[in-house]
Amino acid sequence: MSIISLKNISYKYPLDEKEAIRDVSFTFEKGRVYGLMGANESGKTTICNIIRGFIPGLYKGQLTGEVTIKEKHINDYNIGDLATIIGYSFQNPFTQLSGVKDNVYEELAYGMENIGIPRNRMIKKVDELVEMFQLDDLADKNPFELSGGQKQRVAIASMIALDPEIIILDEPTSQLDPKSSEDIFKILHLLKDQGKTILLVEHKVDLLAEYCDETLLMNKGELVMTGPVKEILSNPMVLQYGGQLPQVALYYIKKAKDTNMKTTNLIPLTVKEVYEGLQKDGEV
Ligand SMILES: Nc1ncnc2c1ncn2[C@@H]1O[C@H](COP(=O)(O)OP(=O)(O)OP(=O)(O)O)[C@@H](O)[C@H]1O
Ligand SMILES: [Mg+2]
Repeated sequence: MSIISLKNISYKYPLDEKEAIRDVSFTFEKGRVYGLMGANESGKTTICNIIRGFIPGLYKGQLTGEVTIKEKHINDYNIGDLATIIGYSFQNPFTQLSGVKDNVYEELAYGMENIGIPRNRMIKKVDELVEMFQLDDLADKNPFELSGGQKQRVAIASMIALDPEIIILDEPTSQLDPKSSEDIFKILHLLKDQGKTILLVEHKVDLLAEYCDETLLMNKGELVMTGPVKEILSNPMVLQYGGQLPQVALYYIKKAKDTNMKTTNLIPLTVKEVYEGLQKDGEV
């Protein structure tokens, strides 16, 4: 089922001369994980804001084309309804925290409190989130006294507390070290298993290779490549558009070039795949 559909979307911020988004069309299917890549200023955050209805609503400007969410035109939702369907975590976790709660435990409950979830259900959910995001040691701390990475984990957990069907994360691991980034990706994997649709803006291409189903690449406001992860992240064209490829893929692309072989989407993208290949060939 198409859960988000973008048809010929173009957008110009107020006062800007040129379009930030140019003729973008794409259909997102329910239950899949999409990785959105692209150089800085290519339009990734703008696309996220279009999908969650903040453009043109809040930012104004000129939007053309058609956005549908769950096969209903986005203009037919009010922003509150959209916010219950679409969870969004900001590129900057500092803007996400409520600023009104003085410990992490209450911060996690804040969104649920606002929509009147009964207290016992709220407590159960917060306990679940504390465990899922390994926040035990932080539960009593003031959200504003946390490190960037801790804030980011709390911000994502608070968003997930409301159980949105669609989860949009704009660079969710920008403040996180490799281990914590991997932990977030594992949580996203669990959410995918619960049937959530996930759109992830991310530069950590090795993690995208491991956890995403599909990849979208933006360049200067246009959606220039889309397709299964295996296909896109093994294609050297990505580099020409300012995107990145996994280290493992780069190695195999170079090897294929040196030996005059054609690169195909059968090349491995992750260390895990390389290892499995070697195992199959009886080499390890
Ligand atoms: N509020 C705004 N007003 C005017 N122009 C904006 C605004 N926000 C973004 N832009 C412009 O729109 C274009 C796309 O920006 P956007 O933030 O969507 O890119 P991005 O791919 O998310 O970049 P980054 O990787 O730096 O987060 C850029 O040229 C940017 O300058
Ligand atoms: Mg951005």
